[in-house]
Amino acid sequence: MESIIQMTGINKYYQVGEEKLHALRDVALTVERGEFLAILGPSGSGKSTLMNIIGCMDSTDTGSYLLDGAEINKMKDDQLTRVRNEKIGFIFQKYQLIPKYSVMQNICMPLLIRGRSQREAEELCAETIRLLGLGERVRHKPSELSGGQQQRVAIARALVGEPSILLADEPTGALDSNTGREVLELFVKLNELGNTIVMITHDEKVARYAHRVVRIVDGELMAG
Ligand SMILES: Nc1ncnc2c1ncn2[C@@H]1O[C@H](COP(=O)(O)OP(=O)(O)O)[C@@H](O)[C@H]1O
Ligand SMILES: [Mg+2]
Repeated sequence: MESIIQMTGINKYYQVGEEKLHALRDVALTVERGEFLAILGPSGSGKSTLMNIIGCMDSTDTGSYLLDGAEINKMKDDQLTRVRNEKIGFIFQKYQLIPKYSVMQNICMPLLIRGRSQREAEELCAETIRLLGLGERVRHKPSELSGGQQQRVAIARALVGEPSILLADEPTGALDSNTGREVLELFVKLNELGNTIVMITHDEKVARYAHRVVRIVDGELMAG
């Protein structure tokens, strides 16, 4: 199998006043192409810290992080911006859609950033929009949609750039349990279609949808 993520010896510290907080302790993590992995841990265990590092939004203090074979820790900011746009499809608890833009404009965003025209982007997004059942809503604003629909828009936006991984942080945290289940079933389907998924959660029931679970406790990773 082919590794998308290969992390070894990752440590991360935060300076809090006089104290140094050890947020990630010697983390090693490998994710193969096509996996659906959940990272499960309680509040304060280091999940967001790890997500920020996986998503190339924050740097580590030690260790090596290969994403699709490229050493992330050696990259400069402009390279990291590009890697984020091309390799990672972010899905957040609160969707993080742009309120003043239509559903279509939100979904097209990763392609517009890459320099596609609006028309090209809309063509490239058409199949994803159909797959996620958003066809009727594309001219609406996010605020006119339910939470579940908004999360589907965010998932469509994450998918259209054909990223190496979908990286989801508590993707059902803002949804009622039925809608949350629908989103998780959608993840299962997207994984069956070949998408690699890394999902971060504090909820055992959510983690069960993944095929592999690793736990994080006090900044340390351990097998599920
Ligand atoms: N920017 C920061 N500055 C200082 N401490 C932080 C910062 N971000 C997180 N922490 C601390 O690092 C630990 C892990 O936090 P976090 O990664 O947010 O955990 P989780 O997402 O699992 O709740 C916590 O003790 C938290 O207080
Ligand atoms: Mg968090």
